[in-house]
Parts: sequence; C-alpha cells; structure tokens
Amino acid sequence: MTAPDIAALKRAAATRALDYVSAGMKLGLGTGSTAEAFLEVLAPRVRGGLAVTGVATSERTAAMARTLGIPVAELDDTGPLDLVVDGADEADGDLNLIKGGGGALLREKIVASTAARMIVIADGSKLVAALGRFPLPVEVVPFAHLTTARKIAQAAADAGRSVIPVLRRKADKVFITDSGNYIYDCPLGVIADPAALAASLSAIPGVVEHGLFVGLAKALILARPTGVTVIERKA
Ligand code: A5P
Repeated sequence: MTAPDIAALKRAAATRALDYVSAGMKLGLGTGSTAEAFLEVLAPRVRGGLAVTGVATSERTAAMARTLGIPVAELDDTGPLDLVVDGADEADGDLNLIKGGGGALLREKIVASTAARMIVIADGSKLVAALGRFPLPVEVVPFAHLTTARKIAQAAADAGRSVIPVLRRKADKVFITDSGNYIYDCPLGVIADPAALAASLSAIPGVVEHGLFVGLAKALILARPTGVTVIERKA
C-alpha cells in the first residue's frame, strides 16, 4: 500500500474551505502547514479580485500572507471576524481540538474566539477517538515557569493523568512564542474530559493559555485518500 500524499490532502482540505469564503469577509488566518496550504489556494482568488481582509494568528502567517498579496490587518482594527480557517494537531468527533504544535495557540485562540465561525482543515490522521495522543501545549509566562509547570502537572494528576511537562526547545534554545512566553508540552494520553481540564489549566496563575480548543470549531474539513468530508458541530 502506498503512503498517502499528506501535502496533497492538506491542500484538498484547504481548497474545500474556500467554499466558505465570500467577498468582503474579515478572515482569520491560522498557523501551520495546513493553514499555509489555505493561504496558497486563497492567494490566486485574491489576485483575481476577491476582497478579503486577513488577520494573522502568527508573525509567520502574517509574513506569508503579505508575500502572497493577501491584505493583513490587526484584529483591534478589524473588530469581530466572519470566519477563521485554521489547522489542528488533533480533533475529536465533538470538534474539540488540541492546537499549538506550531506554538501559535495564544493568538489562534484569541482570533478563533473573535470569529463568528471557526473552520478546521486537516488531513484524516488528525481525527482521534479521544484527545491526548498529541502532547498538549501550555503557554506560560517565563517568570517562575518551573513552579507553574509543577502546578500544571498537579492539575493533570487531579484529572487522573500523570505527566511531566516538557519545556519546548528549538535549535538548542528555549522556544519563545510570538508573545514572548514559554511552552510546556504535556504528553497526557487520553483526556477524558477536555472541558474540565481546560478549566483547571486556565485557573493556574502563570498559564497564559493552553492548546485545548473546546466548543470553538464549527466544522472540520477532513481530507482522506478516499475524499473530503465535512463534520459539522452538533447543535
Ligand atoms: C499552530 O500553533 C498549531 O495550532 C497548528 O494549527 C497545528 O500545529 C497544525 O499544524 P499543521 O497543519 O502543520 O499540522
């Protein structure tokens, strides 16, 4: 059996997301390779006259959008968005997500929570029966980050999961987010109750944001070798 062409699947999901974009929209632009595939398919439409205003969820996405000729504005200037199209590290059948593998979870969540609709685009490998196979990213302020990491481990233990949070590094240096913070990656295994864990993590002083996106995504566009399917949030 040949391995699926993941890049082609990401592009297929991204292309389907164009169906949700219309003229005049204020559009949140996600971060990661699948979100970048969306920029690549959106750009020719913009060059062809489709007027949209993009709000980027990372410096990297902002730079790529500008290079491709997609107008980029600040969220504070645009106000509420019509739509955000973003990727995910994992999604379950209820459209709860783990995000932040690319380190942009904070801006991604601010943007998603300011949009009328969040659509997630992904290849089929991202759909899981239960969240937690992907280590959950938790963004923390640098001050006393070891202390905060211990509290994160305690919150996981209270939720029945034993975890050693791992400080993210890149090229031998501590990874710094676009907002100047650190990230701890938490390999939790199965997260039985994402909403409860999300609430416990949010309550820890020093945690800026975590990668659990609960109740934000309205639809998941999933591309598999057999075709593209759309899973809508249940009412
Ligand atoms: C970025 O911080 C993440 O939330 C991305 O959306 C996520 O990591 C998915 O990235 P890929 O599309 O590259 O898998």
